[in-house]
Amino acid sequence: MKTLFNKFKKIIMLTLIIFSSSLAAADVSGKMIAYGCFSCHTEKSFNLKLPVPKLTQALIAFKYNKKQATIMDRIAKGYTDAELNAVATYLGNLK
Ligand code: HEC
Repeated sequence: MKTLFNKFKKIIMLTLIIFSSSLAAADVSGKMIAYGCFSCHTEKSFNLKLPVPKLTQALIAFKYNKKQATIMDRIAKGYTDAELNAVATYLGNLK
């Protein structure tokens, strides 16, 4: 019984470690991607102040040619959906 509990404890700890480090990774890459956006956008321009779901939606729409663009379509195509989500999460939470 005790060894079984110990095994579970290890699995739970490992899951927590993996989960928390992947959250941290999303945070860091979101921030790093955002620095590239600031060469054209300031934090206040172009609606980078949109709420997270709207920002994600806009970026995904650019990527898949669902939103009219001169350049954002090409920029969005450079990122995975997960990276677009990460940058939207970072930008959407800037105060
Ligand atoms: C080379 C300049 C440039 C860079 C870099 C850039 N953008 Fe844009 N962005 C634009 C332009 C120009 C538009 C207007 C749409 C178009 O013509 O492509 C736009 C539009 C947008 C919009 C739509 C705003 C709205 O009101 O609908 C969002 C959201 C956005 N950009 C987010 C980003 C994010 C996030 C990044 C970084 C990954 C980024 N942009 C990088 C130039 C840029």
